Amino acid sequence: MSTALVIVGCGGHGREIAALVAAVNDAAHRPPWRLAGFVDDDPSEANRKRVSALGVPHLGTLEILGRLPAGTQLVIGIGDPRIRRRVADRLAPLGPAHPNLVHPDATVGSDLVSAEGLVVFAGARITTNVTVGQHVHINQNATLAHDCMVGDHVSLHPLAAVSGDCRLETGALVGAGAVVLPGLRIGAGATIGAGACVVRDVPAGSVVKGVPAR
Ligand SMILES: CC(C)(COP(=O)(O)OP(=O)(O)OC[C@H]1O[C@@H](n2cnc3c(N)ncnc32)[C@H](O)[C@@H]1OP(=O)(O)O)[C@@H](O)C(=O)NCCC(=O)NCCS
Repeated sequence: MSTALVIVGCGGHGREIAALVAAVNDAAHRPPWRLAGFVDDDPSEANRKRVSALGVPHLGTLEILGRLPAGTQLVIGIGDPRIRRRVADRLAPLGPAHPNLVHPDATVGSDLVSAEGLVVFAGARITTNVTVGQHVHINQNATLAHDCMVGDHVSLHPLAAVSGDCRLETGALVGAGAVVLPGLRIGAGATIGAGACVVRDVPAGSVVKGVPAR
């Protein structure tokens, strides 16, 4: 039997996760998920219409999550690591499980060590001996190479390329198309601008951009 799944967030990232879940179901002999709906505290009118067009209901605000049927699982469909972290903290006492979702067109090393809530989008690559924390999102066509250590709530945006032996600390964001050279440490909450090439360690909380990134 399929497991009920609720996506937190009606925005673009949440709806991309709905497409990922549909792809996982399509690829499986027995579809593992039944998309029960979205929850969002304050969806825009446009986003309400977009989720309705997908044929998936907006179930209400995050308040309802404490009353979901037993066994329902949750995925946080929010792209910004800071907001994802705040939502994860709010959901933690409620107890539902957060599955790891991997698009059938992504590849993931057999020795990946992952906490819950990992989302790996189409075309993404996670190679060998990678460890990731909770609610890490690896977007379309991003690469996470060998021996990386990735903290909770980290996001790689589309086409980001993180080389081997890097350490990405809690809540770090690697922008679209950015490159991180091997062995570097990206501090907690740091933001790497889209298209940057990171050539040295990035301190926690800082924003770097450009080539080389400064
Ligand atoms: C780097 C970044 C965090 C800066 O955000 P910000 O502080 O709001 O920056 P602003 O838009 O105010 O721009 C400030 C300056 O930086 C420049 N800039 C912005 N992003 C840049 C980037 N990625 N690379 C180089 N320069 C950039 C702007 O042109 C502007 O320059 P100016 O002062 O000479 O006019 C952001 O632009 C970025 O790249 N985020 C990554 C997001 C991403 O990958 N999104 C994809 C989602 S799918």
